[in-house]
Amino acid sequence: MQNKTPNPVVVVDFGAQYAQLIARRVRDLGVYSEVVPYDVDVGALGAKRPKALILSGGPASVYAEDAPGLNPGLLELGVPVLGFCYGMQAMAVALGGEVPQTDVGEYGPTRLECAAEAGSALLTGTPERQKVWMSHRDSVGTLPKGFVCTASTATTPIAAMEDPERRLYATQFHPEVAHTTHGQEMLSNFLFKICRITPNWKIDDLAAQMIAALKERIGGARVICGLSGGVDSSVVAALLSRAIGDKLTCVFVDHGMLRKDEGKAVSEVFGKQFDVDFVYVHAEERYLDLLAGVSEPEQKRHLIGTEFWKVFFDEAAKLEQRTGDKIKYLAQGTIYPDTIESGSAAGGTNAVGSKKAATIKSHHNLIPFPEGVHFNLIEPLRLLFKDEVRRLGLTLGLPPELVWRQPFPGPGLAVRIIGDITAERLDMLREADAIVREEIDAYNDKLAEESGRRDAPGSVWQYFAVLPAELRSVGVMGDERTYQNPIIVRAVESQDAMTADWAKLDACQDPEFSFSRILSRISTRIVGEVSGVNRVIYDITSKPPGTIEWE
Ligand code: XMP
Repeated sequence: MQNKTPNPVVVVDFGAQYAQLIARRVRDLGVYSEVVPYDVDVGALGAKRPKALILSGGPASVYAEDAPGLNPGLLELGVPVLGFCYGMQAMAVALGGEVPQTDVGEYGPTRLECAAEAGSALLTGTPERQKVWMSHRDSVGTLPKGFVCTASTATTPIAAMEDPERRLYATQFHPEVAHTTHGQEMLSNFLFKICRITPNWKIDDLAAQMIAALKERIGGARVICGLSGGVDSSVVAALLSRAIGDKLTCVFVDHGMLRKDEGKAVSEVFGKQFDVDFVYVHAEERYLDLLAGVSEPEQKRHLIGTEFWKVFFDEAAKLEQRTGDKIKYLAQGTIYPDTIESGSAAGGTNAVGSKKAATIKSHHNLIPFPEGVHFNLIEPLRLLFKDEVRRLGLTLGLPPELVWRQPFPGPGLAVRIIGDITAERLDMLREADAIVREEIDAYNDKLAEESGRRDAPGSVWQYFAVLPAELRSVGVMGDERTYQNPIIVRAVESQDAMTADWAKLDACQDPEFSFSRILSRISTRIVGEVSGVNRVIYDITSKPPGTIEWE
C-alpha cells in the first residue's frame, strides 16, 4: 500500500495454514498487522519498527532436517513475542528448552487447565478450565530457563508457557481459530495489557490517507485501471477517481468467460452511472483461440493472466494515441489473500515471499509480465482482506449492491469448466450458473431482510455452477433415455476466502428458503431449462481440504 501504515504487529510465518488468520484477528482488534516469512532479514524487519512479534504454527517437526528454524535475532529485537504451536516449540528450542519426540498427537477441541497460581498475563480473565483447539504431535518437554508453565492438557503437560521478564509468551494450542473459545481475549491481553499497544487501525480513516498517497505518487500522469466489475477493482477505481479525476481510464476486458449479462451490468454501472472514462474491450475470440485444447488448470491460468497484460498493453497504446498522454501506470484490485495463495512462483510478487510458501493457484493478476510488456503497478489494496475492502467501499460511497457482490475470479468461467473450454460448454455453464445465482441471491436477500444485515451468519459468500470434464450419465426425460452432462453446484460460507465451509442454507426462517427447497428449485430448473444437462450435484467440501473454485 502506498499510504503510511502504522507500525505493525508482525506475524512470522513458519508455513502455517493460518498465518494470515492471525494477522486478521489482530486487525480485528484495531491493530495493524503484517505477515513475513520465517527467514526474513532481521535488519529489514527491525526497520519496520514492529510493536510485537507473533510466531505462527507450521507443518514441520523441529527435528526435521529442513525444519524452519527461529532466528534468535528475532528474540533480540526488544519487543514482546508470542508463539503458537510450532512457534512455541521453535521458541523453546532457540532458548535452550527441550521438545522431545512423542508418539501421541493431540488434534481438535481439547480441554485446557490453567495454572491459576502461575498468574499468567496472557490467560488473565479467561476461565481456569476452557476449550482450546490443538493440532500437534511434538510439544515442549523441558521449559527454557526463566519460563513458567501456565497451562496444561491431559496429553500435554506444558500447553502454555511464559517468561514475563523477557516478555516472551507461547501456547501449544491455537488462539487464532474460533474453536479456541477465549482465543481473542488472549490476543487482546497480549496486545493491550502486555504490549500496551493503542489500537489505531481503522478502515474508515484509510480512504483519505490512500487518496492522498495515490495523488502524490501519480502526479499528473494518466492511469489505466483494470476493472472487472467486482468489489476489489471497483474500490480501486473509486480511490483513483477521487485522486486523479479525469486522468483515470477504466478498462473492462470481456474475455468471453463472463457470467450471464455481466458485461452489460458492468457497462451500465461504470459506463453510465459513474463519471469515468470507460473502455469495453471485446476479446472473446482472442481468448477462445488461446484456450482451445488447454485443460491443465495452471496452464489455463497462466495463459489467461499473460493475455490480460497483452490486452492492457494494446489498450494503453490506443489510449496514448487518443489522449496524447504517456501511460506507464496500471492499477488493479489485488488483495492480500491473492498474494498469499499465489505463492512465490507467481512472479515473485508474493507478500509472504518465503521460500517455503506453496503455490496453490496462480491468481491472474500476479502472473509475470510477458516479454515486451511493462507497467508500473498500482495496487492500493494489496495488504487488505476482503471484508476490509468492503468496508472501504462503503466508506467511499459505492452502491451496496456492488460492495456486496460475490467474488468472481479474473479467469472467470474458465476455471469452472473442467477440461476443454468451448463456446458450447461456456453457454451451458453460463445458463446453469445464472439459475444458481438467482436462487441463492433470493436466499441471501431473504436472510438480509429477516436479519437486517447483509453479512448475517449463514449468508452465502460465493455460489456458482461448475461443469465437469467429459462426464456423462444416463437419465430419463419424458420417457426418453438421456445421456448428458451433470452440473455441480458450489456454495460456500466464508469471511475472506482463506477458509470456507459448504453452505448449509439453513438460516432463513421462511420455509420457502430452506435447504431442501432451494436445492430442489435449483435442480429442477437446471435440468428443465439448460439443454444438455440431466443431473445436478451439490459439493459438500470445505476449504481446506478443498478450495472454493474447482481449478
Ligand atoms: P480458491 O479457489 O483458491 O479461491 O479457494 C479463493 C478466492 O479467490 C478467488 N480466485 C481468484 N480471484 N483471480 C481472482 O481475482 C484469480 O485468478 C482467482 N482464483 C481464485 C475465488 O473465486 C475465491 O473467491
